[in-house]
Amino acid sequence: MGFENHQDFTSSKEAIEARIRDYQGIVIRSRFKIDKTFLDKATNLEFIARVGAGLESIDCDYALSKNIHLLAAPEGNRNAVGEHALGMLLSLMNKLNQANQSVKSGNWLREGHRGYELEGKTVGIIGYGNMGKSFAKKLRGFDVNVLCYDILPFVGDQNAKQVSLEELQLKADVLSLHTPWTSETDKMVNEAFINAFAKPFWFLNTARGRSVVTADLVRALHSGKILGAGLDVLEYEKLSFEKLFEGEKPEAFTALLAAENVLLSPHIAGWTFESHEKLAQVIVDKIKAIFFPTEETAELKRVTGIGGIFFKSKDSKKLVEWYGKHLGLKTDQYGSTFWWKDNEGNDCSTQWSPFAADTTYFSPSEKPFMQNFRVADLEGLLVKLKEEGVTIVGDIATYDYGKFAWILDPEGNKIELWESNDKAFL
Ligand SMILES: NC(=O)c1ccc[n+]([C@@H]2O[C@H](COP(=O)([O-])OP(=O)(O)OC[C@H]3O[C@@H](n4cnc5c(N)ncnc54)[C@H](O)[C@@H]3O)[C@@H](O)[C@H]2O)c1
Repeated sequence: MGFENHQDFTSSKEAIEARIRDYQGIVIRSRFKIDKTFLDKATNLEFIARVGAGLESIDCDYALSKNIHLLAAPEGNRNAVGEHALGMLLSLMNKLNQANQSVKSGNWLREGHRGYELEGKTVGIIGYGNMGKSFAKKLRGFDVNVLCYDILPFVGDQNAKQVSLEELQLKADVLSLHTPWTSETDKMVNEAFINAFAKPFWFLNTARGRSVVTADLVRALHSGKILGAGLDVLEYEKLSFEKLFEGEKPEAFTALLAAENVLLSPHIAGWTFESHEKLAQVIVDKIKAIFFPTEETAELKRVTGIGGIFFKSKDSKKLVEWYGKHLGLKTDQYGSTFWWKDNEGNDCSTQWSPFAADTTYFSPSEKPFMQNFRVADLEGLLVKLKEEGVTIVGDIATYDYGKFAWILDPEGNKIELWESNDKAFL
């Protein structure tokens, strides 16, 4: 059991395309794009794993249409990115980099290197996924107000309050970018975007360079609208993130190199000794979980059935009667209970219930319905869901008919999870 593994760090894309049909899996970093041509030749490919956070070098839709598993490892470098972003911010605000160079050049200029404190400031995070959340976690203890903006609803948590982009631009003293590079985020940080901030602000980019128009950033650094910038990624990077200084340097890049209040690093936010190992381990674990499930790594038995369909109604009492009369549902004041047997022959039930129109039971979802799924191991599942970044609403509640917890899907639909003991409706 196991895989036979071949390493190749040097062959051209064409050379690999000529051989790829012999492989079931490929583990990549960033050397070239896995496009349609490549995927059409990879007729036996079952998974593509990237030892990194993003999958933008892969034509994901096309790969998924061919039933290829796509694996990334943001869990492996998110801590590194959070720490790097924090390090850049503290260094910029305390002028550590400038002070260091100044002292080493034989100066002792204290007033010129007076710094700013983070305490009391508002930090705005755009893109609240793995990296954004990790940075927010690192900010705990700094007595800052942390806001996040994301295109997905309900991603805010105890470390950052989710707000509109307008509110973030109104309040932020610091902006940290943690979005993927997409058509929407390409050149997102441009002159208009920067000017929409109410206050001058510090800017961090550990996400993708092409989300920033460097010439506009340089203008804002000169005007003082941006107080300082920590850039781990640059617009001029190639897809492979290697070799920046080939050819002529763009004017804005030269300006960044000369600016005292700009701190640059060569795309290393996620690149630590620890993450090197963690990234690889995450990928190995994910591959093993798919292809060699053991009892330990076997997918946790998650949803075992539909536990209930709950919806708001104008007059639930009348509705219950109507369904009883016309559809023969055996109803009580709560609705109706359907009984069925699982694969092992155990009795299970599914509940159908109209709720009052003004119920708050579905909140924060504003939808007129709520789903309930039966689950096998509520506590174990919640641990997994938390790791996966799923929004959990409130705490576990225990009643004589089972344990309950609530989560939100990406569209904000509330889902009730129910580990039932199936005695309630007997
Ligand atoms: N510098 C480094 O070494 C390094 C290391 C790891 C990740 N990264 C980069 O960090 C970025 C984030 O990675 P991640 O793993 O957190 O991704 P993620 O998918 O976990 O999170 C990204 C979040 O951004 C949100 N988003 C997408 N488009 C948006 C938009 N237009 N406006 C607002 N929010 C939007 C998504 O909804 C998601 O919540 C990626 O660009 C990744 O490549 C850089």
